[in-house]
Amino acid sequence: MSSEQMEYYKVKYQALEDLPGVGPATASKLREIGFKTVEVVATATTHELVSAGIGEATAEKLITAARKSMAITFVRGDELVKLRSSMRHLTTGCVSLDRLLGGGIESQSITEFYGEFGTGKSQICQQLCVTVQLPYERGGLEGGALYIDTENTFRPERIEQIAPRFDLDPDEVLKKIIFAEAYTSNHQVVLLENADEVIKENNIRLIVVDSVTSHFRSEYLGREMLAPRQQELNKHLHKLIRLSRAFNTSVVVTNQVMAQPDAFFAKVVRPVGGHVMGHTSHTRIFLRKGRNNLRIAKLVVSPFLPEGETPLRITGRGVEGDEDI
Ligand SMILES: Nc1ncnc2c1ncn2[C@@H]1O[C@H](COP(=O)(O)OP(=O)(O)O)[C@@H](O)[C@H]1O
Ligand SMILES: [Mg+2]
Repeated sequence: MSSEQMEYYKVKYQALEDLPGVGPATASKLREIGFKTVEVVATATTHELVSAGIGEATAEKLITAARKSMAITFVRGDELVKLRSSMRHLTTGCVSLDRLLGGGIESQSITEFYGEFGTGKSQICQQLCVTVQLPYERGGLEGGALYIDTENTFRPERIEQIAPRFDLDPDEVLKKIIFAEAYTSNHQVVLLENADEVIKENNIRLIVVDSVTSHFRSEYLGREMLAPRQQELNKHLHKLIRLSRAFNTSVVVTNQVMAQPDAFFAKVVRPVGGHVMGHTSHTRIFLRKGRNNLRIAKLVVSPFLPEGETPLRITGRGVEGDEDI
């Protein structure tokens, strides 16, 4: 990142207490509701702070100061180009998949991998926990990973297998992966609400939620639960977007699929989570099984790239495409 680009992420106020008008009492109220850094206060709404017992005028002042400090304000189009240039790409470790994604997984937004069981979603997530640690010139983000696992499928042994392929020391790689298992959807939400300090302190550049929908899907059963489920999921996903912007991190989520009820002839599946998922995942990749144990990754939605697909293999070395050696 050049020094000019860094400007947009330079925080004038380091700690909450540095914000004008924040004493120990307000700071502790903010921390209690999960706003532990200036970066995240900048993304808060007045309503959120008021509900934690902070006066409305103070809340507005705080948020404004935090935003100014982060230069989240109106920008001209040419400046937007500059701002977006602080967006980084994280290599997937697969040349062809990176190309499909226009250079890799973007920071500042959510990338979703969805597909049936066994299509390689968790494998890709684990590989990204390794590649994020690579230097910039090799497509990494020179940072750590935060992994929220809801299906108990993260395996440190797998990281140990993948790391040497990228010439990284497995023990060192494992030290830079912060892992948490989420037992319920509520636990998953709370983990993220309290994540900003962990992200800052550990220089986290990738947040993985594998899978983002499974708890919501299994807990909120029945038609009448659909609205509350979508509301909670929406809040959760917006928290993820905010974290990605506040810390310029990549966010990767996985999602299950369900059979499309109105498809009679072909087997058609669609991702869980409906419009809420669709509107918050900026980039969506559909994974399916192909012939000869291949996996096919298809770019389904991107803000600026054409659709396309590429074959992948899951091997002892991780996830590989045709051009990876
Ligand atoms: N060490 C390995 N070598 C080869 N294939 C593996 C290895 N570890 C896992 N796999 C394959 O990865 C697939 C599971 O991928 P996974 O990412 O867990 O699927 P999901 O999409 O359900 O998250 C299985 O087909 C399994 O055989
Ligand atoms: Mg999985």
